[in-house]
Amino acid sequence: MPMLRADQLLSRFGFCSRRESSAWLHAERLSAAGVIIDRPEKRIDPTSVLVDGKPLEFPEGMLLAYHKPTGVTCSHNPSEAPLIYDILPPAWMRRQPPPETIGRLDKETSGLILLTDNGAFVHRWSSPRHETAKTYEVTVDADIPPDLVAIFASGTLLLDGESKPCRPATLTLTSPRTATVRLLEGRYHQVRRMFAAHSLTVTRLHRSGVGALTLDGIPEGTWREVQPVDIDGP
Ligand code: URA
Repeated sequence: MPMLRADQLLSRFGFCSRRESSAWLHAERLSAAGVIIDRPEKRIDPTSVLVDGKPLEFPEGMLLAYHKPTGVTCSHNPSEAPLIYDILPPAWMRRQPPPETIGRLDKETSGLILLTDNGAFVHRWSSPRHETAKTYEVTVDADIPPDLVAIFASGTLLLDGESKPCRPATLTLTSPRTATVRLLEGRYHQVRRMFAAHSLTVTRLHRSGVGALTLDGIPEGTWREVQPVDIDGP
């Protein structure tokens, strides 16, 4: 973890602005190894600093798996509230940069969404080149024709308004109206639109996995810190 100037650290971890940091330092609120840090230019290791006697949360950056309930929006637009960013602890949202979702789930989709404050992680797991599989549990409004399995796998399925076909996807029927879908890409409303292309309306959509990571042990509405290897696999 890179060392940070004391004033940068206070703003990076959301305690105050760099301008306000001198008051924090003057008040002797920062220490490391029992020594008070009172100079803004003093370089410190975020993993060993104490602010008001407490270690930093996620001193090396955040990577979280959140079990999103339906009805919550992955957006910053207040007109689309309730927003995922209003549910996270306000102290996290004051960090610079704050956490953001890696990709999005629709308001009416539940399930696994990753959050991070690391731009490289956003790129890594949202880039189609990285080929991270996303697994969805789907319920539709009519019986799924069995030939849809081959159509999803064919790499020829065209979404309304697009000219590039979807990449091959795995469709596994679990009952006449339910299925598991595994995708290697993440286009806008992709699962709903893939079924709509065959006149089926998705009535329930839940993302159960991203790469090797599942929601096991993460109840709805809660989150857990994860490591890159949990997503990429061993
Ligand atoms: N596909 C959709 O249609 N919606 C989602 O939220 C995710 C994938």
